[in-house]
Amino acid sequence: MSFRTTTAVDYVEDVSPGAGALPPRAWYASSDAKSLSLNGSWRFRLSATVDAEDDSFAAEGYDAGDWAEVTVPGHWVLQGHGSPIYTNHLYPFPVDPPRVPTENPTGDHLRVFDLPEDWPALSEGGAVLRFDGVESCARVWLNGTEIGEFKGSRLPHEFAVGHLLQTVDNVLAVRVHQWSAGSYLEDQDQWWLPGIFRDVTLLHRPAGAALDFFVHASYDHVTGEGTLRVDSDVDGRVTVPALDIDVATGEAVTVPVLPWTAETPKLYDGFLATEGERVPLRIGFRTVVLEDGLIKVNGRAVLFKGVNRHEWHPEQGRALDLETMREDVLLMKRHNVNAVRTSHYPPHPAFLDLCDEYGLWVIDECDLETHGFVEQDWRDNPVDDDRWTPALLDRAARMVERDKNHPSVVIWSLGNEAGTGRGLTAMAEWIHGRDASRLVHYEGDIDCRDTDVYSRMYAFHEEVERIGRGLDGGTHKRRRLPFILCEYGHAMGNGPGGIADYQRLFEAHERLQGGFIWEWIDHGIKDPRYGYAYGGDFGEELHDGNFVCDGLVFPDRTPSPGLVEFKKVIEPVAITGDGTDGTVRVTNKQDFADLSALAFEWSYQVDGETIEAGSLSVPSLAPGESVDVKLPEPPADTRRAETRWTVRALLAADTAWGRKDHEVAWGEFPVTARPSPTVVPTDGPVVGERLITLGPAAFDTRTGALRTIGGVSVEGFRLDVWRATTDNDEGAEWQSDTRYGVLWRTLGLHRVRHRLDAVEVGDAALTVRTRVAPAAREVGLATVYRWTSDGDRLKLTVSVTPEGDWTVPLPRLGVRFGLAEADQVKWFGGGPGEAYPDSRAASMVGRWQSTVDDLQTPYVRPQENGARADVRWAEIGGLRIEGDPEFWFSARRWTNEQLDAARHRTDLVPGDTVWVNLDHGQHGIGSQSCGPGPLPQYFLKAAPAEFSFVFSEIG
Ligand code: GAL
Repeated sequence: MSFRTTTAVDYVEDVSPGAGALPPRAWYASSDAKSLSLNGSWRFRLSATVDAEDDSFAAEGYDAGDWAEVTVPGHWVLQGHGSPIYTNHLYPFPVDPPRVPTENPTGDHLRVFDLPEDWPALSEGGAVLRFDGVESCARVWLNGTEIGEFKGSRLPHEFAVGHLLQTVDNVLAVRVHQWSAGSYLEDQDQWWLPGIFRDVTLLHRPAGAALDFFVHASYDHVTGEGTLRVDSDVDGRVTVPALDIDVATGEAVTVPVLPWTAETPKLYDGFLATEGERVPLRIGFRTVVLEDGLIKVNGRAVLFKGVNRHEWHPEQGRALDLETMREDVLLMKRHNVNAVRTSHYPPHPAFLDLCDEYGLWVIDECDLETHGFVEQDWRDNPVDDDRWTPALLDRAARMVERDKNHPSVVIWSLGNEAGTGRGLTAMAEWIHGRDASRLVHYEGDIDCRDTDVYSRMYAFHEEVERIGRGLDGGTHKRRRLPFILCEYGHAMGNGPGGIADYQRLFEAHERLQGGFIWEWIDHGIKDPRYGYAYGGDFGEELHDGNFVCDGLVFPDRTPSPGLVEFKKVIEPVAITGDGTDGTVRVTNKQDFADLSALAFEWSYQVDGETIEAGSLSVPSLAPGESVDVKLPEPPADTRRAETRWTVRALLAADTAWGRKDHEVAWGEFPVTARPSPTVVPTDGPVVGERLITLGPAAFDTRTGALRTIGGVSVEGFRLDVWRATTDNDEGAEWQSDTRYGVLWRTLGLHRVRHRLDAVEVGDAALTVRTRVAPAAREVGLATVYRWTSDGDRLKLTVSVTPEGDWTVPLPRLGVRFGLAEADQVKWFGGGPGEAYPDSRAASMVGRWQSTVDDLQTPYVRPQENGARADVRWAEIGGLRIEGDPEFWFSARRWTNEQLDAARHRTDLVPGDTVWVNLDHGQHGIGSQSCGPGPLPQYFLKAAPAEFSFVFSEIG
């Protein structure tokens, strides 16, 4: 006999959105109706299955005294109960929708609360219990009565509970299941983190309280007037004192206003007053349209300089507090970011308040992804199965109704990577019908059947250019639509490279309305074992490793070099000049704001040192305007030196997001070029029994290996072509032919051998001939080191000639050596941060200093990092090193091989030796961990090369 019981837990696998919840509505905080936060410590019991325990815990009087405690909001797996799981798109359970595994961690949460003293009498009005986010399915009881169950993890659910409340000892019981039918709709690339991870709030609802309302606030850029109409379920009056507005709900009023834009986020404070409640409004007047094939706001096309933001905190997971959200917004504003895609679910509602307030364009994305179905060619995809459509529509409505009153939200997104299907069309139709004032986005809709913008992810530069030129074909509808890259510049580890090249395309073709870097933050989990843990560190049977660490900021929100680069690439002001004609060209690249918020400064550098500086008067240009401004007479300087202008745009005064003098943009341009270092070889090598001496240096007589320069001993000096492969070198597994990180290793570039061919002592030079090559291959690099000296200084010229059939570029090309004692580093060249051939926009030529430790960029998975570009000279460990030409400099307390072997930050243990790399070339970075590799111009081809360094001991 076989049977399956129908039990009270069937709701877990039910495709319907749930039962018992109130209709979705706008999210707001009343100014006078009471509310009670139920955040805090809750009693908690974890079971292995949905029905291991009965529901008696929900009854009044249940003694949960021996249960554990968890903090709400929070995820139980981050509070010592079970473990997080990371998968990119694979479902961590068998795909058999809507069934989920029997092993289904279930967390019973219990909280007993009294109503505060000032809570109105129970007979006055009602009450609503609001959950802002629970993953993935919850069943709720209040005082022993079941009030409903729901799915839709990152969406609010409200329940009417007034009739159940009592003054004291209310028992709120919430049973949360990790897996449910809803999990099939929530296959976003992130940690699976069950729990009540957003606020739980009890809201008093006075008689005559507002219910739902829709603020329509448009802006007519021709007349400069705004039109306000607040549609409300409950009649009332709308007042906006600053605009002298006092109208009935439903009534439109038109008055002159300042518009809201992300650059000028003007909000008007107002109130919606119903009979029983006053609701504060923050009104931003703006009009979003699709016109002339472009996304226009207030009559002008906008350019998105955006990021994809997941909610993340290294200890709290997706349970973010307000200060963390504000930190995200401030960091974005301070790095010139103007747009956010809320990948891949509606964020905590307070985040959107911050976007309204500080000014960020938002693509608000629905909590929907079914990516794992790609493994079976999208068979059984819920978005193409009518049984699931109510759940999809419920999700769309919960997003739109919650967030519709935010001026920052300009585009609704149906979700991410969910294939195609009727369910998505139904969502788009519903959204278009409910809110005609915004556009609809969904990247998977390649023909733009349901959407208003053509969106792609990780398209290569070449294709993006074709799209910009309108040569991409596609459906008739799509060809008339604007284009955005909803994801590009995969910021995993070192990189992304190539974003300046994208930006040039965006700025050259009006159809290209910008993009959103993938992604904002590394989702590393703070872990004493590793520094930050990533996929696999919790013993998951399926996982995607460190693919979850691909952000512009580290898990603790320290900006990574990728963010600094992005800030430079998307500067709102372009500052260019050629230095020799004494003028600087300033262009306002903003879409709405003039330059009145900025002050400009010039400075003049001689050999990287600023010798004069002053303020520069730049007219307050309108958006799109340019001006040529005369620079002062260059200071008289007769030295034979390299000189340059630097012009910077700074905040002229404190703003909501940045201090006066915060640097917004800069440009530098050379006046006189750098003189090459010269060494006239006056000394000759002298051969001793064990050492050959030449000027300040000594070499091993037998091998020609450099031993000392003056009093500084030098270890292991030789050619180096290997770098600890970056995530972008390694590439994604689906990209087979251009993953150079893999091809390099296959070729053996991480294990080259150095064959000594000759040590030649000439009159004026010591020449050492070698061949550098990996075992088992015919390719090699004939490498000649030629040493000369003027008695004081030591010059090395390295000549490299590739032999054999080189089909791959080189990771790096230069020399490396170890110094026994080194800590402080000074250099004249690019800085202050790291740079690589296609991620060097933010590298500013100047005089910099650092410690060896601070030169490192602590990527969550260690990899090549920390190179400084365009270095003219560097001083380290008692040596001064000049380059001819300029070189890439790096130094670390471990070898490149140790760096390569490390999996976590904690694997890197400093040794006694500091290993210095002086590189003539570095291969580009690209963003092939999920996108294109470096563009051809950033390849380090295996080609004949010659480069020199001059060494001297610092006296
Ligand atoms: C995209 C996806 C993102 C993320 C990214 C790779 O395909 O939309 O969620 O997985 O790739 O990091």
